Amino acid sequence: MSTGVRSIPLSSPYLDERDEELVLEVLRSGRLSLGPTIDRFEELFAERVGAPYAAAVSSGTAGLHLLCRIAGLGSGDEAITSPYSFVASANCAIYEGATPVFADVDAETMNLDPAAVEAAITERTKAIVAVDIFGYPCELDPLQALCERHGLALIQDACEALGAEYRGAPVGSQGPSAVFAFYPNKQMTTGEGGMVTTHSEEEWGLLKSLRNQGRADGGGWLEHARLGYNYRIDDVRAALGIGQLEKLDRILALRQAAAKRYSELLADVDGLEVPLADDADHVRSWFVYVVKLAAGVDRERVIAELERQGIASSRYLPSIHLQSYMRESYGFREGLCPVSEDLSRRTLALPFFAQLEADDQERVAEALRAALA
Ligand SMILES: Cc1ncc(COP(=O)(O)O)c(C=O)c1O
Repeated sequence: MSTGVRSIPLSSPYLDERDEELVLEVLRSGRLSLGPTIDRFEELFAERVGAPYAAAVSSGTAGLHLLCRIAGLGSGDEAITSPYSFVASANCAIYEGATPVFADVDAETMNLDPAAVEAAITERTKAIVAVDIFGYPCELDPLQALCERHGLALIQDACEALGAEYRGAPVGSQGPSAVFAFYPNKQMTTGEGGMVTTHSEEEWGLLKSLRNQGRADGGGWLEHARLGYNYRIDDVRAALGIGQLEKLDRILALRQAAAKRYSELLADVDGLEVPLADDADHVRSWFVYVVKLAAGVDRERVIAELERQGIASSRYLPSIHLQSYMRESYGFREGLCPVSEDLSRRTLALPFFAQLEADDQERVAEALRAALA
């Protein structure tokens, strides 16, 4: 960086002494895994999102994989999902031998367009993996109706959406089973980690068995009822999760305030669109702050200009079907999902986290204004 100014990172976790205290308590207890802190974390999380059951796992990806397994996805099956997402929402079906089918997204919500999903349904379709991208809730009711009509499983990838609301209720509270993720850029973090919420006691039992090498509830340590995985979280991370949950309201409020500030600062900047506002059915939980550059703007030049001023930014998100391994394995090409592809060329994530300071946001806005002038 040549300007000598303080750099502004893309994201940063919000940690405090209470987190340290809780983690230390577990370390001192000697009970580092399969202990009571995990149960407590699950109880608190379930309560927080208004779901009857929650099972903690080692990552959001692990949670998505387990739901695909429970849905019975296998070779010859298709799972319809969003191209405008993080790769895990498509990979989870591939792990089970199923084929990912990408339906295009809505240009405004950036989430799966239910009409495109319906058009993509075939005799082989077995599941829909719907993503709440950037914390904006997906079209749950129409997707659920499609799933009921066609006998499909619906899996909600809510990895970016803890705290979001759909039609007046928290994401995770209405069903279907949903997966949340706790990587350090998320609304709350456990370092690595994830949580699956479910409304079925039976599924909850299965999740807990599958994450723990297929051990049966109440069975011995070396008794395995089914093929399972080591997708366990540990008590150290669960303790951090509890600390984060305790202050989640504060974190969400700070993120919301930062987003509001950005939207005000950027309202009159030509050449970009700020993120979609909430409406009666959709309340976003702020995960990232992603602007859409106008067609014709040279995004690379904007990124370089921000970087020159010590400001991190990122090309969020590339379309999954155009990743090299997807092209090679399935022959996907440009033109398959034009809305997603257009977004992928034009969207840019700005520095965004709970403790982002107002004057740093002003710096970002000024740098963007200059880069787009
Ligand atoms: C939409 C989406 N799905 C899945 C994941 C996977 O979560 P994890 O990184 O915890 O495996 C993430 C987060 O990285 C995500 O943003």
